[in-house]
Amino acid sequence: MTELEQVLPTSKAVHPSISMLKQIHKKSLEDPEGFWRNVANELYWAEKNGPIFKPTDAPPYGKWFQNWKTNISYNALDRHVKTWRRNTVAFYWETENGEKRTVTYNDLYNEVNRFASALSKAGIKKGDRITMYMPMVPELPISLLGTLRIGAIHSVIFSGFTAQAIQDRLKDSESKIVVTSDIGYRRGKALELKPAVDEAVKNSPSVEKVIVLKRSSNATNMVKGRDISYHDFIATGDKYIEPEWVEGTHPSYILYTSGTTGKPKGATHSTGGYMTWVYYTQKVVFDVKDEDLFWCTADIGWVTGHSYIAYGPLLTGITSLMYEGTPDYPAPDKWWELIERYGVNILYTTPTAIRMHMKFGEQWAQKHDLSSLNLLGTVGEPINPEAWKWYFKNIGRETIPIVDTWWQTETGGILITPQPGLALVPLKPGSATLPLPGVEPDVFSEEGKPAKPNERGYLVIKRPWPGQFMTLWMDEERFTSVYFTRFPGIYYAGDYSMKDDDGYFWLLGRADEVLKVAGHRIGTIELEDALISHSAVAESAVIGKPDPVKMQVPIAFVILRPGHKPSPQLRDELAGHVRKTIGPIAVPEMIYFVEKLPKTRSGKIMRRVIGAVVQEKPIGDVTTLEDATSVEEATKAYADLKAAMRGSVKSK
Ligand code: WTA
Repeated sequence: MTELEQVLPTSKAVHPSISMLKQIHKKSLEDPEGFWRNVANELYWAEKNGPIFKPTDAPPYGKWFQNWKTNISYNALDRHVKTWRRNTVAFYWETENGEKRTVTYNDLYNEVNRFASALSKAGIKKGDRITMYMPMVPELPISLLGTLRIGAIHSVIFSGFTAQAIQDRLKDSESKIVVTSDIGYRRGKALELKPAVDEAVKNSPSVEKVIVLKRSSNATNMVKGRDISYHDFIATGDKYIEPEWVEGTHPSYILYTSGTTGKPKGATHSTGGYMTWVYYTQKVVFDVKDEDLFWCTADIGWVTGHSYIAYGPLLTGITSLMYEGTPDYPAPDKWWELIERYGVNILYTTPTAIRMHMKFGEQWAQKHDLSSLNLLGTVGEPINPEAWKWYFKNIGRETIPIVDTWWQTETGGILITPQPGLALVPLKPGSATLPLPGVEPDVFSEEGKPAKPNERGYLVIKRPWPGQFMTLWMDEERFTSVYFTRFPGIYYAGDYSMKDDDGYFWLLGRADEVLKVAGHRIGTIELEDALISHSAVAESAVIGKPDPVKMQVPIAFVILRPGHKPSPQLRDELAGHVRKTIGPIAVPEMIYFVEKLPKTRSGKIMRRVIGAVVQEKPIGDVTTLEDATSVEEATKAYADLKAAMRGSVKSK
């Protein structure tokens, strides 16, 4: 049997590695305390008091490491600098214009201590919030680790978001400090970041200080008494500061993510459970060896970058590549060139990026020796079998496994995935396979009963796991209603899923009004709110249209206020308005001007009808119609909308 066949058998017999993994999984559920104690003991804890897990009556129905104390920066740095790892590389950093930096564990330790000490001298205390709005530079993970070292809480805002988005998040988190940079680089251009921060901070009374990493020689607007350069700031710090030993349930960070209302949700992660989870998943999912060079292509502005650039690799003591740039600049072989030159062993990326490379063609990868790679991963969206096979063949030489990892901002780390570090099960293109130890997922029908094998339903997780978020920042009520009410007491992920005869999970996309555009999570309601905030717009409806590369793209329907007429100029203005309000990733691919939107009698927008029209599917494919809507009404609404679209001014 070739290695390929071992990886990809589709036989019906239970494969020995499936039995093995299911055995480990079973043990983890039978004795969670013992299982997680063994994992936790690989990390450092200043105190270990009482049980690891304590059930509670309120969501999320349990607390992890409540009376244990630790510090994530200690585990990511101090633990390593006391060993042979001290002078090994933590990050190779490179930018698209060839700037390079090698940061060892010792370097990182020194700079994190300076940063943390400077924060402490600036009056920042345990529990205070610090916001980062930064490009992909080493100072970003440095500031994250520095924040956690003194027990403060970080909130990273993706640097593609706008002033409005920053302001909303600063207000919600009441951050005292913002860490930013004058510019970031993208496709040969320097993008200014500081003006957006200046605008947002004007209306954010909580902010006392703005720390600015200067990268360009151009002058940056610095507000006297408020702004300080990053280098001047760390110069105020001492070379060592004792880590703050915090409880396992002390928040480590807030990360805002889109949901089904306009207001982003501040997913709040723990210290003990989160640390244990990212450490464990980095180990067993990516099967890391001491000498591995790991490359996660995400931006630290999203959860993937938090868990698998900033924390997972450092907690496991391996080396990462950190790249500031896009896959196709200056040429479509940029990634493959980097992999060859650095000798990357593990590549973790998104299906959108893979489909983009498929479009460029495999000749770009063929120009390079990719034989250093020994594991591939994907995350962020369902991967279509065609893209999986392309990745396997052209990047993976048809010999190395692909881990299709399912998880969410809320879950802290990977939950459903192949686990080559434990036992490599046969892979099926498009399935994330089996749950990790401690994770008990299921697929529920509409009524909350377990769905039959091969039947589509809703993904739920039936018991708490260590990496689980603890709450939504300052919004306990929404935390309960969004995640634990659809199926009372059980975590509702908001995804469609199916379980096959082998117990493999197939993740089938969002079941709510959240879009996945090139792997980025965007709420349709956020987009609708952005459109309505324009003075010409009375009403709007946004839905996702399938896209061959990005998976989904937003399509907007707009009803204008009296006195405004549809025109290509207004359409461009609206697109620009979304760009300014949320950011470039949210700009609709099409904006249609219509006179009315299909609505139910109770006034709810008939999203499925709009979806069918946009996808040019017959109305018959609209399986369940919204409440209180007859088939005739829906059919009429469908026909009306189709006619309106034909006559509408399009954006492209
Ligand atoms: C989707 C990203 C299918 C899913 C880590 C989930 C996936 C949402 C996969 C979370 C996967 C993530 N297969 N779908 N392997 N991974 N998703 O919060 O819809 O940005 O609910 O976290 O991405 O997106 P988020």
